[in-house]
Amino acid sequence: MEFKKKVVIDCDPGIDDCFALLLCICHLDVQGIVAVGGNTGLRYTERNARYITELTGRTDIPVYAGYDMPMLNKIVRATEIHGSGGIGTVVIGEPKKHLEKQHGVDFLIDTFMNHDDISLITLGPLTNVAQALLKEPRLKERIPEILCMGGSAFCGNATPTAEFNILVDPEAAKIVFESGIPIQMVGLNLTRQNLMCAADVERLKEIGGPVGSFAAELLGFSVGNSMTPNLCDAAAVSWWTGSGVITKSMKVHVDVETKGEFTRGMTVCDWRNYMGSDPLQEISREKCDNRAELPKNVEVAMEFDREQFRKLLFETIEWYKEQ
Ligand code: BDR
Ligand code: CA
Repeated sequence: MEFKKKVVIDCDPGIDDCFALLLCICHLDVQGIVAVGGNTGLRYTERNARYITELTGRTDIPVYAGYDMPMLNKIVRATEIHGSGGIGTVVIGEPKKHLEKQHGVDFLIDTFMNHDDISLITLGPLTNVAQALLKEPRLKERIPEILCMGGSAFCGNATPTAEFNILVDPEAAKIVFESGIPIQMVGLNLTRQNLMCAADVERLKEIGGPVGSFAAELLGFSVGNSMTPNLCDAAAVSWWTGSGVITKSMKVHVDVETKGEFTRGMTVCDWRNYMGSDPLQEISREKCDNRAELPKNVEVAMEFDREQFRKLLFETIEWYKEQ
């Protein structure tokens, strides 16, 4: 049987989260989905997660609700990008698929305390993961790795310096980034290399079927309403599908800023070794000035193959049609 990486996904669906879930359910072994408040309120993000399991015929995947509110921040939503229900203009009823009774944070704790072979993907604010780390501090030795869509190697979207997922709950992000858990960060510097367009919507319509039609309507909303229809979360999870979409990453030190007047929520990357040059260029470590260097705690995705991503996405939607 084909080996699929085991993952738990913490997310706030959200249009691009839905696309990410479609990729993950096809290419990875999804052990559970935990919803968090972010793009919209928890009552919608958990509903949308349940809906995706129905749409894909995978109601065996358990769905949990975590926190709706950030740890200290006031609520920040992105309903202008995702629609008030998180899925643009798509109207869905209440899914039959039930929500698990256990709190999402307790599911995270149980899962990682009891299994060695499951990795974590985060596609929303890091509230649930941080709360889990506070409730069970041994968790930081138990989560083998995190693929995090959040932050940016350079500039932000929600503010000039901060990316949405980190800005919503900077204290939570700080706890996660300082936990010592190996993090692979896919920030805006990467996801902005993707851009979906009206022709992609048509392609999804042509593929059709329940998943293709849903995806077409979601993307249609996004292309019509967002300045940057990047499908950030889907671009991020492509790293673990083994499809060669992310072609370059670099280990750097990353801190989360929680206090700055203009920089709260920024992922501060230590590029000092590349001063006077471009970190995107191949620079051998020997040639760098090593004076200024904090421990490299995060692997940051840097380069993206847009055509490979589209191939992955469309092949995945076709795969659902054939099921
Ligand atoms: C991130 O913010 C959300 O709006 C998206 O779902 C994605 O996770 C991009 O900044
Ligand atoms: Ca998201």
